[in-house]
Amino acid sequence: MILRLGSSDIETAANLLKRGEIVAFPTETVYGLGACISHTDALRKIFAAKGRPLDNPLIVHIADIAQLSSIAIDIPDSIPHLAKAFWPGPMTLVLKRHPDVPSIVSAGLPTIAVRLPSHPIARELIRAAGEPIAAPSANLSGKPSSTQARHVLDDFEGKIAAVLDGGAATLGIESTVLSLYNPSDPVILRPGEITKEQLEWVLGAPIRHRQTEDQASSPGMKYRHYAPAAPVKLFTSQPDLLKHLDKKGKWVLLSRERMSLDIDYLPLSSKDLFASLRTADTDGYEEILIYCDEETLRHEGLMNRILKASSH
Ligand code: TXA
Ligand code: MG
Repeated sequence: MILRLGSSDIETAANLLKRGEIVAFPTETVYGLGACISHTDALRKIFAAKGRPLDNPLIVHIADIAQLSSIAIDIPDSIPHLAKAFWPGPMTLVLKRHPDVPSIVSAGLPTIAVRLPSHPIARELIRAAGEPIAAPSANLSGKPSSTQARHVLDDFEGKIAAVLDGGAATLGIESTVLSLYNPSDPVILRPGEITKEQLEWVLGAPIRHRQTEDQASSPGMKYRHYAPAAPVKLFTSQPDLLKHLDKKGKWVLLSRERMSLDIDYLPLSSKDLFASLRTADTDGYEEILIYCDEETLRHEGLMNRILKASSH
């Protein structure tokens, strides 16, 4: 039984965290699976509950900027500018890890990923727990992230103490991860709602996208992601989609706009993608078709997740 808590139960959730339990909580991006960073047993439980490989590091969530100096060192001069522009919000920064932070958080790397979420429940929970909270996305490893408390219950029944229900996540895809480990060579490790251009504008310097040779500094990127059980096929032109529909099958179409086609639909947007992939699986479709229109193709964060979901 997972305890399902509401916004008036934050104290209860914080007490569970302080006792070394893991608790799922809402953020503006996706739900997180949290543990206090000082409880190494609880951190280990996170990896076990998710089935997450031990070489894939966790993001540490803070309630205010003052907590940053307790988990990171050699903080670059650009941080106040980035924090002022994008925190609280969906930006994660990779910095040098403070020696007091247990190395399991970072899977042994000398770095630490940090985020100050904007969701009021998340921030109140971290404040009430009295220390930063390590939290990966609250989904089984390799499955779509959870954007609703229901998804967390589906994945973790019997495996975690509680979930704080904050309703549906407003953004729906995970944060943009920017590494400033080498401040003269900023790298985007994962695209998100905050774009490269927005970050460059504040940083006043060019940023590069992660290359395969950055693998060692970002182990999580090599793992398979967001994969529903059914195969996912992408279409960028309507004629190609129509041709595919000439054949018959138990298919569902994810698309931004409904087309006048005789097929089941699920909504496609950053907010809806993960929930739609989960619904497609629950409803037992044999194949998931995704139609990427111009607007979808322009959305780097969304396309990144769609491509990962489709790479069977
Ligand atoms: O929006 C989000 O970022 C959500 C919410 C819960 O905050 N969290 C999330 O965590 O997406 P997770 O664990 O699913 O994804 C974190 C990504 C992984 O790809 C991981 O490899 C990378 O960030 N990461 C974490 N720590 C890192 C580090 N020290 N260096 C490089 N990459 C790191
Ligand atoms: Mg994840």
